[in-house]
Amino acid sequence: MRVQLKGDAICTLFLVVALFTILYSQLGHTSLREEPVKVQRRPSPATGRAFHALQRKLDARPTASGPGIISAMKELKVASESHVGTSPPPSTPSAFDFRQYLRDKDNRKFDILINQPKKCKRNPGGPFLLIAVKSLVEDFDRREIVRKTWGREGLVNGAQVQRVFLLAVPKNKTTLPTWEILVQQESQMYRDILLWDFLDTFFNLTLKEIHFLNWADEFCSNTKFIFKGDADVFVNVENIVHFLESRDPNEDLFVGDIIYNAQPIRKHKSKYYIPETMYGLGMYPVYAGGGGFLLSSSTMRKLSQACNQVELFPIDDVFLGMCLQRINLKPVMHEGFKTFGITKPSAAPNLQTFDPCFYKDLMVVHSLKVAEIWLMWNLLHNSRLSCTQRKQIKKAFRWKMKTKVTTLGYPA
Ligand SMILES: *[C@@H]1O[C@H](CO)[C@@H](O)[C@H](O)[C@H]1NC(C)=O
Ligand SMILES: *[C@@H]1O[C@H](CO)[C@@H](O)[C@H](O)[C@H]1NC(C)=O
Repeated sequence: MRVQLKGDAICTLFLVVALFTILYSQLGHTSLREEPVKVQRRPSPATGRAFHALQRKLDARPTASGPGIISAMKELKVASESHVGTSPPPSTPSAFDFRQYLRDKDNRKFDILINQPKKCKRNPGGPFLLIAVKSLVEDFDRREIVRKTWGREGLVNGAQVQRVFLLAVPKNKTTLPTWEILVQQESQMYRDILLWDFLDTFFNLTLKEIHFLNWADEFCSNTKFIFKGDADVFVNVENIVHFLESRDPNEDLFVGDIIYNAQPIRKHKSKYYIPETMYGLGMYPVYAGGGGFLLSSSTMRKLSQACNQVELFPIDDVFLGMCLQRINLKPVMHEGFKTFGITKPSAAPNLQTFDPCFYKDLMVVHSLKVAEIWLMWNLLHNSRLSCTQRKQIKKAFRWKMKTKVTTLGYPA
């Protein structure tokens, strides 16, 4: 009894500390996509070979010892503190060479360095839902938290869920010199790493999209549905499973935060600047915010074919919109996908958008810190959570409605 009380007290203390950390961090919160990071443009033709050599070395050795991975994790922590989430676009347009991109764009097939060919073969019927998360090698802590929270493998309301992380070669190798060993170890431990041999930059996310779809078609065609998203989102997998239960995986399905009538940005200063030589039309096709979306197995197969035929385009969400257009599939908007985060109502700046009862009704929320994901998951799974005042909250404050998007739908 005393032990239990003590445990409860420690738990409460921990939650309080975590909550304060979040409140504090929200004061200085800026959008992930705003963080300026320069694109380093240096191709690495030898990476693949070096990697295979290392893999052979590792395979030859018995399981590697503990201290190695611990020091590697420490390095990672340092690395990820200076660098959050998926790679943001470069801050200056001069960092991106469009002519070079156009010249290189037929080079779109890269080797897979780490595969999980048995990922979807464990269950005779295949998984119900495959969760695929875009991640950077250096964001080890984000992957850990996703594994421990919404990205858990196993049964969710009776539905089998499997998970993979989508990685490519880190562009700045000095940040994490041990990245190859680390990723290799991580893969051995969790069997959820897919790594391809191209540079992991913002403008290469399209390559990630293509390679993932081809991988899913080849190695996971028996999954019923796929959720694909970022590592800095909170996903209510229970809601997603519930939503999908009544759907047919053999029919088309593509659901997310859909952006209509987005125009290419022609201002040279913008991070999302796209010159006319790259995209001549005045409007992008309808597309889904890349923070998270759902698709059926059937749509995955069609998209993987279509995307192999569409010309490379440096913004991955728009590129996928082009593939959807090619197969004539209209993506479906769902209110539960908040891939641009939740806007704080200006009338109530002190309102906590971090209310588990609010998250209870959602499917995907974008731009959360590691501790926020952890805390939200724990609050939502606390049996004492009671959301009877939810109506009150909704009445008292009006959530700012998203205005119709006229430019590419990223936060300004
Ligand atoms: C790579 O990372 C190191 C260490 O974090 C940093 O000092 C260096 O400036 C980075 N290089 C580039 C090109 O971003
Ligand atoms: C994409 O990856 C390839 C292969 O590593 C690299 O040569 C290219 O520079 C990268 N492109 C961008 C836009 O970062």
